[in-house]
Amino acid sequence: MRHLPLNEITGEMFLAHSVFGNDGRILLNKGTKLTPSYLKRLGKMGYTHLYVYEKIDEKWDCTGPLSDRIRAEAMHVLWQSLIRVVERKPLNEQQISFVVEGILKEVLQKEDCVFDIIDFKTADNYLYNHSLNVCILSILMGKHFNFTQEELKEIALGAFLHDLGKAYLRSAVKKIQALSLVETAQGKQHTKKGFDILRAITGFPAKVASIAYQHHEREDGSGYPLGLIAVDIPLYSKIVGTADSFDAMISHRPYRKVLWNDQALQELEAESPSKYNPAVVAALRRSVALYPVGSGVLLAGGEERVVVAASATRIILQKPGDPSDLLELPVDALSRIEKRIF
Ligand SMILES: [Fe+2]
Repeated sequence: MRHLPLNEITGEMFLAHSVFGNDGRILLNKGTKLTPSYLKRLGKMGYTHLYVYEKIDEKWDCTGPLSDRIRAEAMHVLWQSLIRVVERKPLNEQQISFVVEGILKEVLQKEDCVFDIIDFKTADNYLYNHSLNVCILSILMGKHFNFTQEELKEIALGAFLHDLGKAYLRSAVKKIQALSLVETAQGKQHTKKGFDILRAITGFPAKVASIAYQHHEREDGSGYPLGLIAVDIPLYSKIVGTADSFDAMISHRPYRKVLWNDQALQELEAESPSKYNPAVVAALRRSVALYPVGSGVLLAGGEERVVVAASATRIILQKPGDPSDLLELPVDALSRIEKRIF
């Protein structure tokens, strides 16, 4: 398995993950042979890189902690929720609660699970994948704070819906896709709007709505909307805010360079304790694969390898072009990796 830019993918390769529409429909199935017309279409959709198999029977997985079924359901529920917000209709509380429980169950299933995939968002699906990623990251970080099942559900709900208020600021459904590009003063109102919408859902605890309100607050008071300082920002909001920043850093955005996981972690650490809480950033570091699946690394000694699996305890490296040549490293031996090269 490789993570390749579109122009290096040949018609002999196979898609290693399904491609979803924003409403959760599968547009292309995992295992599809990447003919030139498919590649052209994926390019038009905004994909710059894809995970590919060179042989159809490769076993390595690049879908992260979620199954295709839950990912599709989650995207569909988010899609419907955003439309309801745009249309000023009440959210379907049970539907949201049910799908977030499904996400929670899958993320908690694998004991040594970390966030292990390279981002493949496009401008169109940014908000959908971002909301899901922030939800997964917040659950994994919550585990390190020994949250109860109930607390994990609360933070997962708040993380899943943290940017919902952005939909309120748009009046046309077709514009939903570009919502994440709204970063203006008006965009800042999404925190308050999200809070108001979520507070109206009687079945969700008030803490869930507060996450939408406070996820842009920063330790030194430089955040918004209230400019709260460290002691006044609840832990849930610090966690979701940090996961939010991390996921934005590892995404292709029009206004900033995309960072690799290790670079994004370093940047957050450099802004801690001023902007980000040190214990929260430490929990993030433990929740993220330093070298996600598909990364190319250079071992001390000069050998190149591709990461095909990563967990909290170990990493599996494949020799390019020789799928049977595998090297397993426990995480405390990661110093054998000199650097990431792609
Ligand atoms: Fe936000």
